[in-house]
Amino acid sequence: MNILGISGTPRKGGNSEILLNAALEPFDEAKWTIRKILLSDVKIEPCTGCETCVGRNECHISDDMGKIYEAYNWCDAVIISSPAYYRNVPAQLKAVIDRTFAMKDHPLKGKLGGTISVGRSTSGGGQTNVLNAIHNFYLSSGMLCVPGELNGVTASADKPGDILTQPHRLEQARILGRNIISYCR
Ligand SMILES: Cc1cc2nc3c(=O)[nH]c(=O)nc-3n(C[C@H](O)[C@H](O)[C@H](O)COP(=O)(O)O)c2cc1C
Repeated sequence: MNILGISGTPRKGGNSEILLNAALEPFDEAKWTIRKILLSDVKIEPCTGCETCVGRNECHISDDMGKIYEAYNWCDAVIISSPAYYRNVPAQLKAVIDRTFAMKDHPLKGKLGGTISVGRSTSGGGQTNVLNAIHNFYLSSGMLCVPGELNGVTASADKPGDILTQPHRLEQARILGRNIISYCR
C-alpha cells in the first residue's frame, strides 16, 4: 500500500512538516511505501483558469505539478499537513488544489485523506478553516475523510520546530496515521 504525504508549508523544516513526519511513522511500521512531497521543495504555478484541461485530462502548465499528478495515481491514501496563512491554506497549497481540477478521470476517487493544520494562535487562528479547506478538497475529489483522535489534527506552534515540545500533538498525528491504516483495511 502507498501513502502520499504533502507538506503545504513553503518553510522547510516547519511545524507542518514535523507533524507530517509523525503521522507517517505508523506507515513505516505497517510496511507501506511512503512518498513525501514538500511544497518547500517544488515550484507549482497557480491555475490560470484557461480550462484547456477540460476534456483533455491534463494541464498546459509544465512544472512540478506533474510529480503530484503522478503521485495521486500511485497512492492509496493522502495526508496533507498545512500551516494557517491568514486563516486559510498558503498560496502554494491552494495552487496544488486548483491545479488538481485538470484531472477529470479523478485519480483520488475512493481514496482516503487525513488532514493536519498548524497556526501560531491558540484561539481563532483559523486552523479549523484549513481543515475545512482540505476536507472540501478531498470530498470534491471523491475521497473519504479520515479523522484523527477527533476530526483533523489541529495544533498551535509558531517558530520552526516549536511543535517538538508538544508530544501530545505529535501523538495525535500518529493516531491519524494509524486510523488511515485501519480504515484502509
Ligand atoms: C503569511 C503568514 C500568515 C499567517 N497567518 C496565520 C493565521 O492566520 N493564523 C495563525 O494561527 N497563524 C498564522 N501564521 C503563523 C503560522 O501558521 C505558524 O507560524 C505555523 O507554525 C507555520 O507553519 P510551518 O512551521 O509549517 O511553516 C501565519 C504565518 C505567515 C508567514
